[in-house]
Amino acid sequence: LASLSKRAAAKGLIYGVACGRDVLASDKNLQASIVRQCGVLTPENELKWQFVRPRPDVFDFSRADWIAGFARTHNMLFRGHALVWHEQLPEWFKEVVNRQNAEKFLVEHITTVTKHYAGKIHSWDVVNEAIKPDDGLKSGLRQTPWLKFLGPDYIELAYRVAAQADPKAMLVYNENGLEHNAPEYEVKRTAVLKLLERLKSRGTPIHALGIQSHLLGDASLNPKKLRNFLSNVASLGLKIIISELDVTDQKLPSDTVVRDRIVAAKYEDYLSVVLDERAVIAVLTWGLSDKYSWLSKFGSRSDGAPVRPLPLDLNFKSKLAWNGIARAF
Ligand code: XIL
Repeated sequence: LASLSKRAAAKGLIYGVACGRDVLASDKNLQASIVRQCGVLTPENELKWQFVRPRPDVFDFSRADWIAGFARTHNMLFRGHALVWHEQLPEWFKEVVNRQNAEKFLVEHITTVTKHYAGKIHSWDVVNEAIKPDDGLKSGLRQTPWLKFLGPDYIELAYRVAAQADPKAMLVYNENGLEHNAPEYEVKRTAVLKLLERLKSRGTPIHALGIQSHLLGDASLNPKKLRNFLSNVASLGLKIIISELDVTDQKLPSDTVVRDRIVAAKYEDYLSVVLDERAVIAVLTWGLSDKYSWLSKFGSRSDGAPVRPLPLDLNFKSKLAWNGIARAF
C-alpha cells in the first residue's frame, strides 16, 4: 500500500498530520502528499487563542476553516487543537484576563469554538499540557494563568463546557513528555494518570488521552513502562491518540544516512510498542515533510544541517522514517 492512511486503516487506525494554513494553501506538492497519505488533518496553530481570538470580542475562524474545508474536500477527518493551553495566547490576554473574568473567558471561548465545528470534528484537544511536576505543586499541575485564576477545577470545567457545546465530539486531554525512559518521564506518567483517574471518578466527560510523542532520536524507550502506562489509561475507559509524533534528529550524527536510520528505527520501535495497546485509535505526525517542521526552529542542529524528523524529505519523497511507520502499522 502506497499510503500511510490506507495502511493504518487496514489496521483499524487513522493516520494524519498537523499542518499550517499558509504552507498548505501555497504548496501544491504538500497538498498532493497530504491528500495521498492522510485520513485526518489538524491545524498546527490556527485554532490556538493567538489566531482564533485576535481581540477579546473577536473570533476569527477563517484560517482554521480553510484547513477544515481542505480536509472535507478530500474526505479527511478534522481534529481540533487546542482550547485551553498556557502558550500562544494573544498579546491582549495578560492585560484583559484576570481572576474576576477568567471563567467567563474560558467558558465563552470553549463554547464558541466548539459550537463552530460541532458535527464536523473528529476530536478536540480540550486541555493541553496541564501537568508539569517540575513546577513543584503537589497536584503535579503546571502553573498557568488558568490555574492561577480558577484553581485546579479549571480542567474539569473545560471538559464540561465542551461537552455541553458539542455533545458528539471526542474530548481529549493532550500531554507531552510521557514517552521516554528517564525518571522524569515516569513521574509525569504517574501525574497524568492521577489527573485522568480524578477526572473520570468525578464523571468528567473526557474520552481520550493524546500523547504528543515528540520523540528524541537520542533518548531511550522503556517498552514495559510505556505499555503499563497505556494499559492503565485504557482501563479507565479512555481511548489514546498519538497526537503529535515526530523524531528530533537535533543531537544525532551529521551523516544523513545514519541519521535517517536512527529516526526510522525510533518511529518503528515506538509505534510497535504503543500499537500493541488496542485503545490507540489514531496516529498523527506533527507535519508530513521535513520542508515544514516546527523542529527547523525548535530543534535546530548545531551543524546547521536541515532537520529530518518527518516521514517525507524536503522534496516530498518517502524516507526510511516512512517505511518505519508503515511497518509498525
Ligand atoms: C508548535 C507549532 O508547531 C509551531 O508552529 C508554533 O510556533 C509553536 O507550537 N506541542 C503542542 C503544539 O501542543 O501546539 C506545538 O506546536 C508543539 C508542541
